[in-house]
Amino acid sequence: MTPDRSSPETKETIPSRVPMEPSTLLSPVPVVLVSCRGRTGPLDRNNLITLAWAGTINSEPPMLSISVRKSRLSHPMIRETGEFVVNLVDEDLVDACDFCGVRSGRDLDKFDACRLTAIPSRLLDHAPTLAESPLSLECRVDQVIELPSHDLFLARIVAVTHRADLMDPSGRLALHRARLVAYLHGEYWNLSRCLGFFGYSVAAPPVLKRRMRTIRERDRD
Ligand SMILES: Cc1cc2nc3c(=O)[nH]c(=O)nc-3n(C[C@H](O)[C@H](O)[C@H](O)COP(=O)(O)O)c2cc1C
Repeated sequence: MTPDRSSPETKETIPSRVPMEPSTLLSPVPVVLVSCRGRTGPLDRNNLITLAWAGTINSEPPMLSISVRKSRLSHPMIRETGEFVVNLVDEDLVDACDFCGVRSGRDLDKFDACRLTAIPSRLLDHAPTLAESPLSLECRVDQVIELPSHDLFLARIVAVTHRADLMDPSGRLALHRARLVAYLHGEYWNLSRCLGFFGYSVAAPPVLKRRMRTIRERDRD
């Protein structure tokens, strides 16, 4: 299963590579709808912003980061309350996800425009949760790092909720059923097929066979 990198044939099959300018091509990345709300004046209303620059950064405590330009309306909202919710995007939400990434909450109410529903978050006081999202991570900002183009918000995940229809009969979260969307070089893609599981490359053959059979049967549901 592990490729033999010492084999002489490997050398002949090494593909040629083309250099590019350094750029932000880490791919694929999740694309998410972040919901937020400020506290004062015109910031005191619900908003949604599409972000592709979000990532997990710590396990204990669970933390993630988002990178937001200062020019976005969402930026002062998140700054003011120190709260935001990362809502995962499924195929039903992809139109709204694109729209919320090209229109500003300064000009319209994006929840209304996309016919989406803001519901109170479980633990946050200001930022709402997007009811239609498969899974939402409620976050409180710990630290803000100002980078040349974006501000990097490092945040603790204080609560997680998911849509009830994403539970399998045994009561476990079935995220593979969520039809989540990834972002790849300017395009939205679905995730159509499971290729393996954590540690599959070193799994004992009977374990590998059993687990992959379970996954394939599960995906037929
Ligand atoms: C696919 C996609 C990914 C985006 N990712 C980011 C991002 O990571 N950070 C950011 O600041 N803006 C990002 N944007 C742009 C904002 O979503 C966009 O400027 C939005 O209109 C800002 O809304 P607001 O002014 O209501 O906050 C992205 C847009 C799209 C379409």
